[in-house]
Amino acid sequence: MEKQTYHILVVDNEEVIRHSIKRALTREGYTVSEARNGRQALSVMAEQTFALVISDKNMPHMDGMALLEHVKKEYPMTEFIIITGHGSIEDAVDAMRKGAYDFITKPFKKEELLQLTQKALERYALTLENNRLKQELRAIQSDRYNFIGRSEAVRHIKSLITRIAPTPSNVLITGGSGTGKEVIARLIHNHSDRVDKGFTAINCGAISENLIESELFGHVRGSFTGAIRDKEGIFTVAGNGTLFLDEISTIPVNLQVKLLRVLEEHEVLPVGATKPLPVRARIIAATNRDLKEEIAAGRFREDLYFRLNVIEIDVPPLSERAEDIPLLVAYFIEKMNRDLNKNVQGATPEVLHTLQSYQWPGNVRELENVIERAMIFCDDTTLTVDHLPHFFADQNKEPVGLKDAVRFFERKHILSVLRITGGDKKEAARLLKVGVSSLYRKMSELGIEELPA
Ligand SMILES: Nc1ncnc2c1ncn2[C@@H]1O[C@H](COP(=O)(O)OP(=O)(O)OP(=O)(O)O)[C@@H](O)[C@H]1O
Ligand SMILES: [Mg+2]
Repeated sequence: MEKQTYHILVVDNEEVIRHSIKRALTREGYTVSEARNGRQALSVMAEQTFALVISDKNMPHMDGMALLEHVKKEYPMTEFIIITGHGSIEDAVDAMRKGAYDFITKPFKKEELLQLTQKALERYALTLENNRLKQELRAIQSDRYNFIGRSEAVRHIKSLITRIAPTPSNVLITGGSGTGKEVIARLIHNHSDRVDKGFTAINCGAISENLIESELFGHVRGSFTGAIRDKEGIFTVAGNGTLFLDEISTIPVNLQVKLLRVLEEHEVLPVGATKPLPVRARIIAATNRDLKEEIAAGRFREDLYFRLNVIEIDVPPLSERAEDIPLLVAYFIEKMNRDLNKNVQGATPEVLHTLQSYQWPGNVRELENVIERAMIFCDDTTLTVDHLPHFFADQNKEPVGLKDAVRFFERKHILSVLRITGGDKKEAARLLKVGVSSLYRKMSELGIEELPA
């Protein structure tokens, strides 16, 4: 915020002091008004908004303490600095308890006051920004969608949801892990006329290959050893509701043919059955792999791909829509205030900046975890960088020298991969495409001792 946009009100009955404070502040670039006492201050404040009041304590016609009480009641956002006489520490304590930002004791140096002013205004700006975020969040939540964000990408996705929810068309949702694919699938369902017919989800990647066929399509008793009774497949279980096929790319190629037929014919033939059953569910599929790559590698059938993606929603990674982060943070803070019974009001600009410059390999899910963790460590009302995992603390201090920059990047990258694998070094080495022993060597070279919390 520009300095001149901060309006400061200086209140003192002694003209000399009032003028000298005003001069010092004006020279700094602030916009300053003055008042001779508390009563006059309140009438000036009724005319315009002030970011900060700097008031002497002792004045005729309403003193500084009474003014402070009025201001905190009527303009709770406005910060207040009180000037007390030498040696009156009780007054200072009393003022702080009544909500003053700080106090300053006569006689004081100009620099001292300027520094205090700057800090008080920083807090004012923070309150302002957090209030703004809360308002924006409220506006978003009241428009029915809990897919939080303000980026162009998110707005586009929301308009797609509105458009396609009432249709029976198949939808394919693509995007990295933790980007919100399931949230979108549920929203589509919630805004469709199938909302009371149930949302059935199946994670194709979590079912062993020899079970997946009967999980999907069902089987009849005796159709194979172990099939001791009839089993309904997920397509029939889903009825007239929505069927969410998660991690669709993991379905074995031979079953993809059968799946394609189900989508084309709107009927399913359970294993061992002779009569097909009707399929009425609306199909939404999701994957965090690049299906075009899977097709090129022969692991996914192109015809099935075209069947599924009548409408495709591609969710970009969080790092490509960093402008969504402040809102998501505000959203998770509100959510976790309820869950963890806390009273956190917001995060400092430094926190938001740090979070916005991070890569987020785990996307929104990872952000949610970081905020939850920060809130557990926060006993105050504001999240600061100290509450973030210490991994974030020196994240921004990017070195300039090439060697140091490479080291810095390597360290950051390895740490983030280790975060994804939950500290599993073997898995991390696989993702990094290096041997486990070279990963260990790198880690010790780069001073990575253990997984950051
Ligand atoms: N835009 C968003 N607004 C609010 N919460 C979100 C948003 N995107 C994701 N989340 C939250 O992040 C977490 C992960 O989302 P979700 O499970 O939908 O991701 P996903 O894309 O299905 O991930 P995966 O590929 O790992 O299954 C959830 O807790 C979800 O509520
Ligand atoms: Mg998912």
